[in-house]
Amino acid sequence: MKTRFIRVDSKNPDKAKISQAANILTSAGLVAFPTETVYGLGADALNSKAVRKIYKAKGRPRDNPMIVHVASVKDAKRLVKRFPLKAIRLTKKFWPGPLTIILPKDGSVPKETTAGLNTVALRMPDHPVALALLREANVPIAAPSANSSGKPSPTTAAHVKNDLDGQIDAIIDGGPSRIGVESTVIDMSTKTPTILRPGAVTVEQIRRILKDVRVHQPSKNEKKPRSPGMKYRHYAPKARLILVVGEEKDVAAKAMELAAGYTAKGKKARIIGAKGKTQARTAAQLYGLMRKYDKERADIIIAEATTEKGLGLAVMNRLRKAATKTVVA
Ligand code: TXA
Ligand code: MG
Repeated sequence: MKTRFIRVDSKNPDKAKISQAANILTSAGLVAFPTETVYGLGADALNSKAVRKIYKAKGRPRDNPMIVHVASVKDAKRLVKRFPLKAIRLTKKFWPGPLTIILPKDGSVPKETTAGLNTVALRMPDHPVALALLREANVPIAAPSANSSGKPSPTTAAHVKNDLDGQIDAIIDGGPSRIGVESTVIDMSTKTPTILRPGAVTVEQIRRILKDVRVHQPSKNEKKPRSPGMKYRHYAPKARLILVVGEEKDVAAKAMELAAGYTAKGKKARIIGAKGKTQARTAAQLYGLMRKYDKERADIIIAEATTEKGLGLAVMNRLRKAATKTVVA
């Protein structure tokens, strides 16, 4: 299959180009598109045949459900049994934006989209291109991150091309994703709302809206994970990744020392730094650096830990999943 490249202005996408991409989606094709978090690989969420193609293109395990993207709260309501008041309060504050809300699904959502679960994950993205595509296609769009399964999520169209060229119908290039880590996933289908994946909307921000929120701590040998996707080795570069944790003042020095040690042994080592960067910048660069260092054929990537507050919690969650080893500075 020849993958079509569609370049658009990220703030003001050309209507004809969006319409071309929307037509591919409504005829059961696959289109990768930018969101504010990472690029998504989209298919018509209500068409099981289209959704099955996503699993195939990504090499995604069949038990890992998709996030369904919508253009409005109204569109989201059509896909669920009920939309509780607490969830409405979250949408009022965080939609459009990087918050995914899990609710009991309605019969219209095929089992392929939710990997057989009776809940559906919903998100209204905060990106002009994603929103234009959703409105034009006029269907909810199932979209996991547009990487091959197991690889770091793509934050540019070039990353998507690298993984999926020839396997999907089109890639919309709308420039780099602003945030760089995926949305926060919160399960609102249970009595106490539970954050299953930390992300760009922080736990602190959510607690300002909802008092009683749990943060799910997945255990290593959990049999039936709450969020199926979280059990796989994820977000991982090809190189070994060593995570350096400890006092902020010691971490950067320890990373340098480790890198020097590997270099002396003839290994190619690269550092993903955190010192002196804002958390937003660390997040925005994270996956791009993993991919860049893989391209440079690094043997070892040494990542400096950041504090697990705010956006740092999401960054550290991804780094811990990618790490093959953790070293204390
Ligand atoms: O920022 C994002 O969320 C990006 C962009 C494209 O929107 N999407 C993304 O999708 O990260 P994906 O498939 O890579 O991650 C979705 C996560 C997975 O861990 C999956 O298991 C979980 O959400 N998930 C989806 N539906 C679920 C459900 N019904 N119950 C529990 N977890 C669910
Ligand atoms: Mg993903």
